Amino acid sequence: MEIKSICCIGAGYVGGPTMSVIAQKNQNIKVTVVDLNAQRISAWNDTDLNNLPIYEPGLDEVVNEARGRNLFFSNEVDKAIDEAQMIFISVNTPTKTYGTGKGMAADLKYVELCARQIAKVAKSDKIVVEKSTLPVKTAEAIQNILDNTGNGVNFEILSNPEFLAEGTAMRDLAVPDRVLIGGDSSTDKGKKAIQALVDIYASWVPHKNILTTNVWSSELSKLTANAFLAQRVSSINSLSELCEATGADIQEVAKAIGMDSRIGPKFLQASVGFGGSCFQKDILNLVYISKTLGLNDVADYWHQVILMNNHQRNRFAKNIIKTLYSTVNGKTISFLGWAFKKDTNDTRESAAIYVADLLLDEKATIKVFDPKVTAAQMQLDLNYLNTRTKLENANYLKTESDPYVALNGAHAIAVLTEWNEFQSYDWKYIYKNMQKPAFIFDGRNILDREVLESIGFTYKGIGYL
Ligand code: NAD
Ligand code: UDX
Repeated sequence: MEIKSICCIGAGYVGGPTMSVIAQKNQNIKVTVVDLNAQRISAWNDTDLNNLPIYEPGLDEVVNEARGRNLFFSNEVDKAIDEAQMIFISVNTPTKTYGTGKGMAADLKYVELCARQIAKVAKSDKIVVEKSTLPVKTAEAIQNILDNTGNGVNFEILSNPEFLAEGTAMRDLAVPDRVLIGGDSSTDKGKKAIQALVDIYASWVPHKNILTTNVWSSELSKLTANAFLAQRVSSINSLSELCEATGADIQEVAKAIGMDSRIGPKFLQASVGFGGSCFQKDILNLVYISKTLGLNDVADYWHQVILMNNHQRNRFAKNIIKTLYSTVNGKTISFLGWAFKKDTNDTRESAAIYVADLLLDEKATIKVFDPKVTAAQMQLDLNYLNTRTKLENANYLKTESDPYVALNGAHAIAVLTEWNEFQSYDWKYIYKNMQKPAFIFDGRNILDREVLESIGFTYKGIGYL
């Protein structure tokens, strides 16, 4: 089947950047990204590229190049499905908040709705690609829905999980370590579908980096890749507590073990805890799948990665409270950063939310500066926890658009995101305008301890007392 038109359902952090790059690299293919969220689509169509709905370095340039040529953002879901030979499903698959598997399983409601809509609309054969991260064997469910509710046309299901990381998405997409395509190579139609997707990626990705597997291996590999990455962060974070108890230096330890070529240096940065929409959700999903298969030891093993992450966030907040003479009631703690990592405006599962929640419980006032996150988003994040009223959250957590205003008069500073710009602030000026003693809790170990201590700060990093 010749692919002339692609539809992607879901214009989020994955659908938007991924399709922008596919369109950039395949100018002969029309790529339409659709979403139910009208506000999101109009932001993708905004002529001012600063208003794109997601912040991702380099994304604006690619959108600017391809949008209106062969890249389109639209609310007309049915039209785009009808036109396309290949449809990507890139909708959200959050952790279930109700019913069986609550708090663990992935909520497949949005994916199922897509499948039903594709089945209803499609009048010609389609290749349906799972781009969302899905539990193993979801393709089977999608195939069932498509075959049983469709108009008698043929659907080939492929799994093509996305490995981009936010903040580096454009580079990850341009030069991916690998592209993974799972499909049914036992039939002719299956083989052709796999080849059609391989061809799209092959317009810029070397063949040796395009891996084809069966569907289940592909689905499981995505969950496992995230689990392994998160496990490294929890492992190094567990050691950060040991360093604090013994005086070993966590960065020296990370460097020493990372130089072992079998271990490698990446993902060994101790932190206040991993966040983001993927790690926790995907591990919980892995734990749930293992449990439902009766593999309780496997489930417990992976669950510990999450428990350690929760512990690290709590420990960070408790350390602030303990250091500030065991009371933060009426004190101002200023946060540098709210996003779950630098170079993104995404705050999903950010450690900052949980640290703020614990400090607000102790009646602290929090002032936050983040270069890309809005005040409204911070309030949404806190309100979502449902710990206190919206009014209390609004009264005790303030957002400042100027970092120096955010830090002025604070009893302590907590660094929650590793934005580069924090390193070049005028720390002497900041010290002068803080309450004394002035504390810095560096949840990312990005600031220069020696310099800050020479100014007069009491510095506490992750893994350092
Ligand atoms: P997102 O929430 O940013 O975007 C999903 C979009 O889908 C939303 O805009 C929503 O309105 C839309 N949507 C939901 N149901 C719809 C429907 N029936 N019709 C049309 N639009 C619909 O989510 P995301 O971060 O882009 O993640 C999407 C998937 O990709 C998830 O499964 C996630 O696990 C996976 N993933 C995410 C990342 C990441 O870095 N964010 C990386 C790899 C994989
Ligand atoms: C992750 C995976 O990396 C990516 O392949 C997948 O497609 C989606 O999930 P993402 O969550 O966007 O990407 O960012 P990532 O760079 O993996 O960071 C996740 C969290 O771990 C962040 O909060 C980050 O600050 C934290 N982290 C990462 C550490 O605390 N220490 C590290 O050494 C690395």
